[in-house]
Amino acid sequence: MLKRIGVITRDCAGVNAALRALVRTASSHDLEVLGIIKGYDGLIDGNLVALDRRSVSGIINLGGTILKSARSERFLTEAGQQQALRTIGDHGLEALVVIGGNGSLSGAHLLATRHGIRVIGIPATIDNDVNGVDFCLGADTAVNVALDALDKIRDTATSLERIFVVEVMGRDCGYLAMKVALAGGCEDVLLPEQDFSLEEICQEIAAGNARGKVSWIVVVAEGRATAREVAAAITGLTGLETRIAVLGHIQRGGRPTAFDRILAARLGHAAVEYLLQGETDKCVSFKNDKIELVPLEIAIQPKKLKFESEYRLLKILS
Ligand code: F6P
Repeated sequence: MLKRIGVITRDCAGVNAALRALVRTASSHDLEVLGIIKGYDGLIDGNLVALDRRSVSGIINLGGTILKSARSERFLTEAGQQQALRTIGDHGLEALVVIGGNGSLSGAHLLATRHGIRVIGIPATIDNDVNGVDFCLGADTAVNVALDALDKIRDTATSLERIFVVEVMGRDCGYLAMKVALAGGCEDVLLPEQDFSLEEICQEIAAGNARGKVSWIVVVAEGRATAREVAAAITGLTGLETRIAVLGHIQRGGRPTAFDRILAARLGHAAVEYLLQGETDKCVSFKNDKIELVPLEIAIQPKKLKFESEYRLLKILS
């Protein structure tokens, strides 16, 4: 039976709720949890804090991570990994739960395969780009945060009869852009996963403008182009005035939606249960109303999403 585990986090909405679920599930099994401060850097530096039921109260609704986070260059080095292993040994950590996106889960996979550490991952990234996983923590909140911003932009787009190009995050994945564009009733969306012709988009805008359609919102995924480039091209090709909005990091913060909190509860709970059952080198995933395990080796591969049908729907409805 495990006695003590550690937990590492990245930041996005739902991570604190997952921590709460994990710590309280662990506590119900008399399993101690040490929180690692500032991600893999904290593991290298031995920066840990004991977490109990009380220390995770009042955090279910908080964005970010109470454990803080960092992108660790040092963990990519052999010396960094050896130091991390020393911390694991010194603190008697028998397993780790790693909450984060591809980078964090790759680190977890490395600890499991190269150094024999027991790990379970909880996918958490607004990019929703963890392979084999339908819903990463934080993605639903990010869609809703971006949608709220987009609705506000629409007020101005409609009132001033303008063309707006809105850039959303997502790294190389178009998930966030596609969902926001469809939910926001946007006229077009440029995704990393699909070809597009700016000339055709501009012809459509010009034809619509000639018919009296005066306001447009085009969403662009950061992995495809910048809002500035797209707006300049639209103005250049149509002569129409454009404005841009780059939503940026507001998309990663904010109070988690009910969906993300419930997902966090289920994944945080399941991560501990699976560790206790002896599972390792896998991440928990919620699919068809059930929790599944996805091998980390698969989870860290590039995710290939298809958006053709959602894109067709957007174009029919716009
Ligand atoms: O992976 C999450 C994400 O917010 C991406 O959408 C974005 O490209 C990147 O992180 C930004 O990274 P940083 O916060 O390090 O600038």
